[in-house]
Amino acid sequence: MRKVLIIGIGAGDPDYLTVQAIEALNQADVFFIPDKGAEKAALRELREEICARFIRRPGYRFVSIEVPVRGKSDDYKADVAAWHAAIEARYTALLESELADGETGAFLVWGDPALYDSTLRIIQEIDAKAPFPFDYRVIPGITSVQALAAQHRIALNRIGEPVHVTTGRKLGEALPDGTDTVVVMLDGEQAFKRLVGRDLEIYWGAYLGTQEEILVSGPLDDVAGEIDRLRREARDKNGWIMDTYLLRGPKTR
Ligand SMILES: C[S@@+](CC[C@H](N)C(=O)[O-])C[C@H]1O[C@@H](n2cnc3c(N)ncnc32)[C@H](O)[C@@H]1O
Repeated sequence: MRKVLIIGIGAGDPDYLTVQAIEALNQADVFFIPDKGAEKAALRELREEICARFIRRPGYRFVSIEVPVRGKSDDYKADVAAWHAAIEARYTALLESELADGETGAFLVWGDPALYDSTLRIIQEIDAKAPFPFDYRVIPGITSVQALAAQHRIALNRIGEPVHVTTGRKLGEALPDGTDTVVVMLDGEQAFKRLVGRDLEIYWGAYLGTQEEILVSGPLDDVAGEIDRLRREARDKNGWIMDTYLLRGPKTR
């Protein structure tokens, strides 16, 4: 039977790899590596660096995956469904052609596979359709949210309070009812600007855990402009950006 390992590699610093992830890397015969675009190239280099540094046994191989591009119509969910179907078809073909019976393949997932990543959902879909038998395992990794909290030296939650994790697309013009801490990911639009004037604190981090890391924190009203500028400059310089931030309301007690 083929085996598939979905390995969380942490969100930036190769030192984020867990002992369990290193053991899993050493069981894989084939690494499926997404390839395309400036961001993907940088992330591919990091994945290859991780393999070179942590794999003790020779003979493993890389297989590039040309990741299909998501369409951009007015229907976001339909675009994502079509995109996932295209990725699923590509993964199915690669697992069948590149992985021999008895071999182990690995997907190195940025951060943790459970947080805003489709790999697990796609592997589950392939498994459900069962075009060929395989077994799969998930190895957790350090998320960008954990990296953000660690770099800013903050706890995510206030005592006994919830934390809401969302995307820039879903962030409204106020914090959700009953929540005084929101973590925002996947925000290409700097949605935090919509919340200026609401007495919030922001803890922002870009390229967390890498040499390009940028951190800014403070009252949102004071630092929103600075984040906007730094973000634009860094994206222009590197050709891509990944940033995450936490917004927090004033203490009520
Ligand atoms: C597709 S999601 C993947 C999240 C990942 N699975 C995790 O556990 O962090 C990509 C988003 O994660 C966040 N992200 C991932 N790595 C990051 C990093 N090193 N620095 C800042 N944000 C990061 C950004 O919000 C980015 O848009």
